[in-house]
Amino acid sequence: MVKKRSVHVCRECGAQAATWTGRCSQCSRWGTVEEVEQRSDDGRLVAAVTEPLISFASQTSVPTPIGIPEVDRVLGGGLVPGSVTLLSGEPGIGKSTLTLQMACAVARTGAGVLLVTGEEAPSQVAARAARIGEIPSAISVLDETSVESIVSALEDERPALALVDSIQTLNVSSIVGSPGSVVQVRAAAAELVAVAKRLGVSLVLIGHVTKDGSLAGPRVLEHVVDSVLSFAGDRHHDLRFLRATKHRFGPTTDVGLFEMTGLGLMPVTDPSSRFLIDRLVGTPGSMVVPTLDGHRPVLAEVQALLSPHGERPVHIQSQGVDGTRVKLVTAVFEQRGPMATFGFDLFVSAAGGAEAKEPGADLAIGLAAASALAGRAVPPGLVACGEVGLSGEVRSVPRMEHRLQEAFRLGFRSAIVPASTTVGPTGLELLPVSTVSAALAMLDLVPMEVA
Ligand code: TYD
Ligand code: MG
Repeated sequence: MVKKRSVHVCRECGAQAATWTGRCSQCSRWGTVEEVEQRSDDGRLVAAVTEPLISFASQTSVPTPIGIPEVDRVLGGGLVPGSVTLLSGEPGIGKSTLTLQMACAVARTGAGVLLVTGEEAPSQVAARAARIGEIPSAISVLDETSVESIVSALEDERPALALVDSIQTLNVSSIVGSPGSVVQVRAAAAELVAVAKRLGVSLVLIGHVTKDGSLAGPRVLEHVVDSVLSFAGDRHHDLRFLRATKHRFGPTTDVGLFEMTGLGLMPVTDPSSRFLIDRLVGTPGSMVVPTLDGHRPVLAEVQALLSPHGERPVHIQSQGVDGTRVKLVTAVFEQRGPMATFGFDLFVSAAGGAEAKEPGADLAIGLAAASALAGRAVPPGLVACGEVGLSGEVRSVPRMEHRLQEAFRLGFRSAIVPASTTVGPTGLELLPVSTVSAALAMLDLVPMEVA
């Protein structure tokens, strides 16, 4: 199929552009650019011109570090000039704080930064900035919600980085609808993306999402922007996770870890120690797992508690672990263990605000529940890691060597692992198992009968 060839033409001044913009770059009028099919003199559609892919090979995008290592690692090195990044998260999680710290970090390199504060007064932002550190002179602030005005400011100032807090406060005058509505959010983003690309300005848009991510706004923007960063964490803990859920310029697997302090967001360089610091060694219902967050191995303590319930349905509640996996793992342990949790409510959590949501945590979840049920602690210095399949098999998981190294670094000396794991750090005893029932037998947690 030959793609039709079209150009974007301003109906007022006739200027042509390859991509659509809300404002004509020639005559500066708004809403006058239209897509027009190109036809040859005999009226036939002009076929699109193809080019060899290799001719674009030298135009790869090189990221510029922001200067906050926990952010740069998530972005695969930094921000690509002219790229658009959506920073999304629940209200109160720390988006504005991170935005401000990013602005300060980039401005400290001497590059121009424009911070658009539709949400807070500049004096508030300055007060917060002063608390976090010295305010660099290269940050300009614009207290504005009109997209037209923001575009003008970007054209005049041409900063290296512009941050808009938040996309939900913006208003495009030619569009009917209140700020935050889907049409406004979409139109505002389209405008800003176009101008960022045209000027080569790196743009960061901040967007609120609700817990289920359903609120308009960020969701409708995901395909418009180059990268989507989600900032999350347990509200009752200080820990914050920065993850890329979409990244056009590289892999999306790395995670940035921060702690919210009175002096802003601080990097967490040793999350494993942090998660294990309050652990009670020798307590039933506890199993440490070398989990993986992005590329980074992180030790988390999975805790399980069984509370007599009496009748079905049994209530299963989880925190910091994947609720669906907890149900699946519990069912497999019941059938294949066997392990009888009938008549108990089951609570499972990753302690201290940690997250153990990947399949590698399966085995630890099941063993923590079994240990709780038996009322017997697992040996100290032991970790467990592996995915649990429906047949009761323990399956291998990625980056096992890195996980085990992290366990060894934190003082653990034995590990229950899938049978296929044959190599680990010297000094760490491997205890391979091929089934969940073998793992239970190894820990002397079978048979378990419930009265
Ligand atoms: P904020 O960045 O305003 O969140 P968002 O923009 O995502 O809504 O910050 C949220 C909370 O963080 C706020 O309740 C206050 C707290 N906070 C600190 O604990 N320390 C700090 O240094 C700052 C700036 C904020
Ligand atoms: Mg905010």
